[in-house]
Amino acid sequence: MSKTTTPPVIALKNVVKSYGIGDAEHTVLDGVNLKIERGEFIAIMGPSGCGKTTLLNILGLLDHADDGDYLLDNRSVDTLSSGRRARIRSEQIGFVFQSFNLIARLNVIDNVALPLTYKGVSKTKRLLEASKMLSTFHLSEREYYMPWQLSGGQSQRVAIARALVNNPSIILADEPTGNLDSRSSHVIMEELSDIHQRGNTIIMVTHNPNLTSYASRVITMLDGKIATDTKAPRRKKSKIAPKRRLDSQSQTKKRKNVKTTKKKKGAK
Ligand SMILES: Nc1ncnc2c1ncn2[C@@H]1O[C@H](COP(=O)(O)OP(=O)(O)OP(=O)(O)O)[C@@H](O)[C@H]1O
Ligand SMILES: [Mg+2]
Repeated sequence: MSKTTTPPVIALKNVVKSYGIGDAEHTVLDGVNLKIERGEFIAIMGPSGCGKTTLLNILGLLDHADDGDYLLDNRSVDTLSSGRRARIRSEQIGFVFQSFNLIARLNVIDNVALPLTYKGVSKTKRLLEASKMLSTFHLSEREYYMPWQLSGGQSQRVAIARALVNNPSIILADEPTGNLDSRSSHVIMEELSDIHQRGNTIIMVTHNPNLTSYASRVITMLDGKIATDTKAPRRKKSKIAPKRRLDSQSQTKKRKNVKTTKKKKGAK
C-alpha cells in the first residue's frame, strides 16, 4: 500500500543570515536545514547569541534570510511581497515573547482583540472573540484590568490568548517563561501543551532544560547551526497538583471546559 506523505509545514534549506558589513560582518545563521511536521512541539535551546531569536524571526516572517530557501506549507515565502507576508503572518502565526509585549495603554480585552483589527474584523466581533479566548485561559475576571495590574503569569496567559485569537496553526514562542517563576512557568507550559494537543505546531525557544520535557522534539543550536536534533519520548503527566495550577475561581470553569470538550469530541 502506498503511503501518502504530507509535506512538512516548515522546511528550511541552507538558510544563512548575517548582520553587519565588511570586517564587521557576522554570520548568525550558518546554513540551517530544518523540517518541521505539522503538530510537532519543538523546543530550541542553545547559548546566548547562537541565533535562536534570529531563526524564530525568520520562521515568523518578521525577518528575511540572506540565502537559502524557506518553504512554509510547501510554498516558498522568500519571493512574496511584504503585504502577502504580513497577511500570512496574521493568519497563520501567533507570537509569544519573553517580555509579554502587552500594550500598556490598552486593557486586557483590547490587547487580546488587537490582532483582529489588522484583519478588519468589526469591533463587536473582536471583543466577543477576545472574550471567548480569555475565558479559555480563565481570565474572564481580568478583561478590564490594565496590564500593570496583572501578575507575570497572568500577563503571559493574556499574551498567549492574544497570540491565539486569530486561530493560527503555528505558535512561535521566544522564551515564554523567561520572566516567570517556576510555578507560573509550568502553568504556561501546561497551556502550551494543551494548545499542542489541539493539533497546533509549537516552536519554543527556552534556556530552561526542565521545560524541554513538554516538547516532542528538542533542537540545540551552536554558532548559527543546528547541533543536535532529538525526538523526545512521550511526556509524563505534570507533577503539579491540578488544584494549584490555576487560581481557585478558575478551577470549576476549567473542569466545565474539559467536560464540554469531551462532549464535543464525542459528538463528532
Ligand atoms: N538586528 C541586529 N543587528 C545586528 N546584530 C544582530 C541583530 N540581531 C541579532 N544580532 C546578533 O546576532 C546574534 C544572534 O542573536 P539572537 O538574538 O538570534 O541570539 P539568541 O540565540 O536568541 O540569544 P539569546 O539567548 O541571548 O536570546 C547575536 O550576536 C546578536 O548580536
Ligand atoms: Mg533570543
